[in-house]
Amino acid sequence: MKLYAAPLQGFTEAPWRNFHQEIFGGVDAYFTPFVRVDKGEFRNRDLRDIAPESNTVSRLVPQLIASTPAELERLAGLFVKMGYKEADINMGCPFPLVAGRHKGSGILPYPAEVEALLKELVHYPELRFSVKMRLGWERADEWRVLLPWLNAAPLQRITLHPRIGRQQYKGETDRASFAAFYSECVHPLVYNGDLLTVDDIRRVEEEFPRLEGVMLGRGLLARPALACEYAGGTIFSSHELYDKVKLFHARLFRYYEARLQGDAQLLAKVKPYWEYLLPDADRKAKKAIKKAATVDKYLATVEQL
Ligand SMILES: Cc1cc2nc3c(=O)[nH]c(=O)nc-3n(C[C@H](O)[C@H](O)[C@H](O)COP(=O)(O)O)c2cc1C
Repeated sequence: MKLYAAPLQGFTEAPWRNFHQEIFGGVDAYFTPFVRVDKGEFRNRDLRDIAPESNTVSRLVPQLIASTPAELERLAGLFVKMGYKEADINMGCPFPLVAGRHKGSGILPYPAEVEALLKELVHYPELRFSVKMRLGWERADEWRVLLPWLNAAPLQRITLHPRIGRQQYKGETDRASFAAFYSECVHPLVYNGDLLTVDDIRRVEEEFPRLEGVMLGRGLLARPALACEYAGGTIFSSHELYDKVKLFHARLFRYYEARLQGDAQLLAKVKPYWEYLLPDADRKAKKAIKKAATVDKYLATVEQL
């Protein structure tokens, strides 16, 4: 199975992806957080994140979010101009501000709008498209009316996160609905959601042997060795894991230290990684990291951990 690194806005930007591949690896392709058109413009931070000169990973798939063919056209045009050969379409984002504009999982209850976007894809024979989606926005069977359009579209893959948009990231994943989608989808299918250990990945593989792969999000933020452990068949000792995490953190920290202004900005960027990173680490040490008010204190607590 292929292992894909999920896009996580605010976390898996170019530095994380580049250092992750260098230090851990095991990932077949990295997906960028979504690029959008905002009041008719691209955002500079998105442009920087997908610029070829910012990226060193061997396979990077830029992701777009759009609700109309016109928006898709702008974003696909940008990706082509930057030299990309693949593009992922976000139909999964659950955030109400995004979904309310019929973007991300907010487009799923509107089959005509999904159809219009998918019909646009034939105009970009130079791009191989994929879709990353949820089961629906309001109901877990909304995908059913969309599937004929998805099956007919020129897609290289669908990644399905078996929750509905309204759930955000809460509650159980819906394996039964995933199984129904799996049996009816003609495209290579990728499972995404709550895979935290190599055993979790193996269980999904056993249950759905025709999967093209799995996409790892928070599990890879928590245990950056997860993909290489699955791919290489050996589990890191905690000593090995902590050593590599230490190096990974140091690289990320130094990268942002050189670019962000002042302690507050720097801490606002690096502290959130600890919401996910090493969930089994000493609780007191993690709490101290979250509470650290200065860069010196922060670095001392990270060193201690
Ligand atoms: C903070 C955060 C940011 C995310 N940003 C994106 C995004 O830009 N594009 C996207 O398709 N999914 C995004 N996701 C969803 C993840 O890619 C993934 O589908 C989700 O976390 C479920 O997989 P996991 O349980 O392996 O994390 C985001 C999730 C989180 C928690």
